[in-house]
Amino acid sequence: MRPPRPPVADWLAYLGELGYEEIYRQPALAASAPGGGPPQPPAEASTPAPSEDSPAPVPVRSGPAAVIRDGVRAAELARLAERAAGCTACPLAAGRQLVVFGSGPVDAGLMVVGEGPGAEEDRRGLPFVGRAGELLTRILAAIGLSREEVYIANIVKCRPPGNREPEPSEVAACIGYLERQIELVRPALLVALGKTAAQTLLGASGSMAQLRGPWYDFRGVPLKVTYHPAALLRNPALKRPTWEDMQEVRDRLLRERPPEEKP
Ligand code: URA
Ligand code: URA
Ligand code: SF4
Repeated sequence: MRPPRPPVADWLAYLGELGYEEIYRQPALAASAPGGGPPQPPAEASTPAPSEDSPAPVPVRSGPAAVIRDGVRAAELARLAERAAGCTACPLAAGRQLVVFGSGPVDAGLMVVGEGPGAEEDRRGLPFVGRAGELLTRILAAIGLSREEVYIANIVKCRPPGNREPEPSEVAACIGYLERQIELVRPALLVALGKTAAQTLLGASGSMAQLRGPWYDFRGVPLKVTYHPAALLRNPALKRPTWEDMQEVRDRLLRERPPEEKP
């Protein structure tokens, strides 16, 4: 069952985030939106995501015990990143510049999973920092999340040559890192971006049209499948169904992990 349609203003704001500025030719409509105004602008691209060898500071949540637990998990995540940085378990090691382990806080409520690094990610060692990454950042902003508060990872940590899809053997060699990332972060929700992530995490074959729609369960974590931002760049018609998926993600995230009162 689909949730009730969100107000038109949300849709317009989302299109604005994604670069359809002309939609704001009707400012009165957007301005008179009941409840939440336009989404926050995307965080400055100049703010680098935390590097893996200096994990992000652990935000205070519910007292010292939670901080210690988060600290232990963050330290283990950092050790895992170090291990990946020297990994040669599959042939993708030979062509990479940098291993792209993942970015984001250990207590992230949302974890998004892509396919594998592209050229820009390979150069910088960070996930989703190229063109598709910019679009992902805007999509997250459209549901009220900055990319700094989302854990962002990929199925494979090294760039497949020419951006080809990773081979099943490469996925098999690498997937242990992601499985452990998911265990350590324990996000409230997972989003699989595109077919490679969806098929791998669900252990299913099938097209995006077949896999999209339901909420799945990945080892106890609710998982939503949506289109990869690179697919949206090639085919703008996919922006709307992606928006509908992300509305569901936003609504469920608010239920599962309500925002905490800032002290
Ligand atoms: N798309 C939707 O799903 N709902 C709207 O209200 C507008 C566009
Ligand atoms: N595409 C992906 O799947 N992952 C990235 O990190 C960048 C582009
Ligand atoms: Fe290791 Fe994964 Fe890189 Fe292959 S893709 S070398 S398994 S980190």
